[in-house]
Amino acid sequence: MSQDALKRAVAEAALAHVEPGEILGVGTGSTANFFIEGLARMRDDIPGAVASSQATADRLRKIGIEVLDLNTVGSISVYVDGADEINHALEMIKGGGAALTREKIVAAVARKFVCICDASKRVEQLGRFPLPVEVIPMARSYVARELVKLGGNPVYRDGVVTDNGNVILDVWNLPMPVARQMEERLNNITGVVTNGMFALRPADVLLLGTTSGVETHLRPA
Ligand code: A5P
Repeated sequence: MSQDALKRAVAEAALAHVEPGEILGVGTGSTANFFIEGLARMRDDIPGAVASSQATADRLRKIGIEVLDLNTVGSISVYVDGADEINHALEMIKGGGAALTREKIVAAVARKFVCICDASKRVEQLGRFPLPVEVIPMARSYVARELVKLGGNPVYRDGVVTDNGNVILDVWNLPMPVARQMEERLNNITGVVTNGMFALRPADVLLLGTTSGVETHLRPA
């Protein structure tokens, strides 16, 4: 089974979590794109969606779903998105597609976060994937020096400008035995907008695509 087939399978499974008549949040990336494809069949049941990136907003509009400004929305029933890594506590590293800040905002508002991934994303320990950090452009060098002090090896993602007009540092080899603590610590560096650690607000449900089918994992209590 190809990786794309696994992504498509979890994207289809996520449609069952969409609540008809409710606003939903839609993530960014190749797995989320399969979800959007499936969403087209449900468009008459969806009053609107909040997108986690400009790219996702464009795709939603193309299939006839209204894209709403988050400031006009009181609540989001469910947020469906992929991840770059996810552990057993359903903590994630996200931001491989540079959409981490809007993803984190939509996830914060959503009542339920459904993560959709193929099995290659499941890890025992987060951190093999470099941790993306979105930074205000003028603070790039300063933040990089601070990240080195924390033991990481930041690499500027050359040529990438986020939807918010900022830049990305991908941090390799950052020691993070406790994901929540590292998330908070990075948030405290002046010039950091967001980091791609999703531990303070992990996923609630993981739909994991494996060669033997889609597994459902709930966040441990
Ligand atoms: C986007 O910024 C990321 O957080 C994505 O959710 C992540 O990169 C997963 O993308 P794929 O579904 O393409 O693997």
